[in-house]
Amino acid sequence: MTGSAPIGVFDSGYGGLTVLKEMVNRLPDYDFMYLGDNARAPYGTRSFDIVYHYTLDAVKWFFKQGCHLVILACNTASAKALRTIQQNDLPGMAPDKRVLGVIRPTAEVIGNYSETCEVGILATKGTVASNSYPLEIQKFFSNIQIHQEACPMWVPIIENNEIENPGTQYFIKENMHSLFQKGENIDVVLLACTHYPLMRAQIEEYLPVQVKLLSQGEIVAQSLADYLIRHPEMETKCSKKGSLQFFTTDTARDFDEQGSAFFGGGIRSSHIDI
Ligand code: DGL
Repeated sequence: MTGSAPIGVFDSGYGGLTVLKEMVNRLPDYDFMYLGDNARAPYGTRSFDIVYHYTLDAVKWFFKQGCHLVILACNTASAKALRTIQQNDLPGMAPDKRVLGVIRPTAEVIGNYSETCEVGILATKGTVASNSYPLEIQKFFSNIQIHQEACPMWVPIIENNEIENPGTQYFIKENMHSLFQKGENIDVVLLACTHYPLMRAQIEEYLPVQVKLLSQGEIVAQSLADYLIRHPEMETKCSKKGSLQFFTTDTARDFDEQGSAFFGGGIRSSHIDI
C-alpha cells in the first residue's frame, strides 16, 4: 500500500491510550490507529526475546494496514524491542517506514524539570532491567542522578481494573517508599510506563508535596508534532481526516468498556489476531 494512512500507536494493553489521548489533543487533524495487545499483556515481566517478537508482530500488522509511521506507546516495548526493529528489521522489511518509541523523547527533556538533579523512574521490571532510562538520560543530562523502581504489580492491577481495590494501596506505598529510600532528594518522578497515569491519583497520595509527577503523554505528543515538522516526507504519508480506530487482540467488548473509562471518550474497538 502506498497511499497515506493513519499513524499506528501500539501498547501491550490500555496504557498507550494515555499517550494517544495527548496525541489526538495535539494533532487533532491526523488519523490514528491504536492496537492494544491485551491478550498477551503484561509485557513488563517478559524476556527480551518475547517482547521483541510480540512487538514485531504488532509492527508488521500496522504495516499491513498501510501505516507508514508507528509509535510504540509502551516503554517496555521501546526498551526491549525498538532498537532491534529499527536496526535489524526495518532496513530489509520496510526501509521507508518508521517506528519510534517513548523513551528517547522523554529522556531529551526530563532534566529540565529537576532542580535537585535527582530523578525517580517508576517502570516495569523489563524497562528497569534494560537500563534504557539511565543510559538515554545521561546522553542529554550528564549531571542527573537516576533512581529506578520496578513496580511489577501495577500493570496487572490496571489491566484487571483493580485500581480502586484497597489492596492496590499496599503495593503503591511499598514502591514509593522504596524509591525515596534510594534517593531522598528526588524532586521529579516519571511515570515511565504508559499504564501508570491511569493510577495517577492513587500514586499522588504517596508523593511528597514538593515532588513533581510527570506522565509521558504530553511529552511524546509534542515530540511527534516536532518530528512531523522535521520530516515532511513522512508527514505527507500520514492521512488527515481526524479519525480514530481501535483494535485489541483480546475481547472488543472488554476493551471498549475499560478503554473508554481510561481514554475519556467512547471507544468502539475490533478484535484482531496477530
Ligand atoms: N504500558 C507499557 C509500558 O509502558 C507496558 C506495561 C506492561 O505490559 O507490562 O511499559
